[in-house]
Amino acid sequence: MRNFEFYNPTKIVFGAETVAKLDNLVPANARVLILFGGASAKTTGTLGEVKAALGTREVQEFGGIEPNPSYETMMQAVELVRREKIDFLLAVGGGSVIDGTKFVAAAVGFDGEPWDILLKRGRNVKSAMPFGSVLTLPATGSEMNNGGVIMRKSTHAKFSFSSAHVFPQFSILDPTKTYTLPQGQIANGIADAFVHVVEQYLTYPAQALPQDRFAEGLLQSLIEIAPKALSMEHDYDTRANLMWVATLALNGLIGAGVPQDWATHMIGHEITALYSIDHARTLAIVLPSLLNLQREHKHAKLLQYAERVWQITEGSEEQRIDQVILRTRQFFEGLGIKTRLSEYDLGVTAAEAVEAIVTQLGAHGMTALGEPQNITLEVSLAILIDAI
Ligand code: NZQ
Ligand code: ZN
Repeated sequence: MRNFEFYNPTKIVFGAETVAKLDNLVPANARVLILFGGASAKTTGTLGEVKAALGTREVQEFGGIEPNPSYETMMQAVELVRREKIDFLLAVGGGSVIDGTKFVAAAVGFDGEPWDILLKRGRNVKSAMPFGSVLTLPATGSEMNNGGVIMRKSTHAKFSFSSAHVFPQFSILDPTKTYTLPQGQIANGIADAFVHVVEQYLTYPAQALPQDRFAEGLLQSLIEIAPKALSMEHDYDTRANLMWVATLALNGLIGAGVPQDWATHMIGHEITALYSIDHARTLAIVLPSLLNLQREHKHAKLLQYAERVWQITEGSEEQRIDQVILRTRQFFEGLGIKTRLSEYDLGVTAAEAVEAIVTQLGAHGMTALGEPQNITLEVSLAILIDAI
């Protein structure tokens, strides 16, 4: 196991009917800005519930944060916060709203052009405003981590940043908030959480027994609950498990002391930025091909994953690896997520898209990805061709 420091200060308030607890979580004299996405926060009633819980506090609203939040939109929120002397931010939504809020929290007091936060991946963030979240979509883990992803629309650049200053102070996780999600977003959440675990687990053996067993448990939980979650029954326990698994998948716990990959995410972000394909769907396109192309390097962990997560024990080692990559692809397909680039509406041919994605990877310095940093542009090209 590698040396590590583990720090996670986010308070989690979990369960049905917990939005009212905002009254105890937000400072009584705070000037609050509630940030939310498109229509869902209003139509589901969550925004109203949040405002009721905040009582007589001074509250303003900033809506219209897009899925894949844009720098352009979030800078409008930064100006509003500065102008109105807001001192507490409250995100009400999924990963996009929480990520956007993290960016605002860091950008308001930032010395210089806030895009630099993204260019330096957050290393230059020295402080941030306090904020909390009410999670409405289990997927990203943003509610309990210190990372965010922001897209600059004008240049199709989607960059992530992280900083110890942008952990939410608290996050309210009410599983009943997921009842209004369309099936496609439930599928996205399962796939995104699944790939978060894989990025931190499926590398090479690091003699980190609890991290491996935790990771395998999270993957098995997702596989177990997926059919019921997708059935759209309002089954509380299924949604509670989905919500907590998605949080645990990316709150730092399973990634402590182990090598991490993240190449699937880096390639996926370029696909979203160019072709507006949902984040989770880009991962389902890239991951099976990445595992195939990295099979030599990931050999030992692929066999462990095959045996412990999918109970694949028959056949030669190469056959077991073939089988488990296929099972992974079938898992995404079973969620209703297409795993081939050519199955999506790209507006260009898949071959042209591959060329454009690789060009963007090069422009963004993504030339040595993956835990062994062996995913050069040539390897990314091979992965993407395999994914067509
Ligand atoms: O915009 P509205 O109308 O609110 O609708 C949203 C949105 O269209 C809808 N939605 C959310 N909660 C709902 C609901 N609809 C009905 N009922 C509810 N309760 O869902 C749509 C998608 O929301 P979004 O927040 O975009 O989804 P998600 O949580 O998957 O977040 C994706 C973003 O997170 C980033 C991704 O890159 C992407 O930008 N990620 C953030 C990470 C992090 N901070 O750690 C890690 C991830 O790997 C990921 O990169
Ligand atoms: Zn993700």
